[in-house]
Amino acid sequence: PKRVRVHHLREAKERGEKLTMLTAYDAPTARIFDEAGIDLLLVGDSIGNTMLGHETTIPVTVDELIPPARAVARSVSRALVVVDLPFGSYEAGPEQALATAVRLFKETGAHAVKLEGGRRVAAQVRALTDAGIPVFGHLGFTPQSENALGGKRVQGRGEDAAELLSEDALALQDAGAVAIVLEMVPAPVAARLTEILRVPTIGIGAGVECDGQVLVWLDMAGMGDWSPRFAKQYAQIGQALGDAARAYAADVRGAVFPDDAHSFLQ
Ligand code: KIV
Ligand code: NA
Repeated sequence: PKRVRVHHLREAKERGEKLTMLTAYDAPTARIFDEAGIDLLLVGDSIGNTMLGHETTIPVTVDELIPPARAVARSVSRALVVVDLPFGSYEAGPEQALATAVRLFKETGAHAVKLEGGRRVAAQVRALTDAGIPVFGHLGFTPQSENALGGKRVQGRGEDAAELLSEDALALQDAGAVAIVLEMVPAPVAARLTEILRVPTIGIGAGVECDGQVLVWLDMAGMGDWSPRFAKQYAQIGQALGDAARAYAADVRGAVFPDDAHSFLQ
């Protein structure tokens, strides 16, 4: 299959074709999602909550993101792989952001990076873009700022907040961002942003008018122990896995497994 490239993002928006994105943190899920035709795979710092047992994304380090990003990048033949810049690895300025992004790029084979924030990171987006590293923006509810935002809350409600959001989005676009994730933004506000931006918007809890959608795969597949209101569960993988483990344990305890078919008889 033909690889998804950065220029396809704008083309998809112009043609009105929705972009599909899921997180992935390892080789087997990346391969499954790639074969399913998911356009974009995000090695998100959500790995902190989903896989590493943290309560937030804040403790996630660049060192922790490199092995999963490498595994995902190696496992796809079509999807464009995006890796998050974790908290503390880019805020200090363009030089810090570039050092982090170059490292992630060189050591993982990911095709783009994502960072959170608007005008405050525009110089970072410019520096990475100029260095040949495509950048995804992330606005609205930005989990790395959860403490400053006062918890997981919808952002951009009210005219003033919506105006600030559009200034941030335009600043990211002007700085060279290739797409912008909008998280927990009222659907009409996200629709308006989608209309004024040339680059695609990718929504998560931001309504159907965005140019694409992203979900954390565990939320999408019913794997987590909790999932947000905006995430639809398309499977009950957690339930299926638990059932499999219980059936296996029962077979072992009953000396039913392994049977002859699963043994070397000589
Ligand atoms: O880390 C992540 O999974 C994300 C998505 C929720 C957009 O940033
Ligand atoms: Na993230």
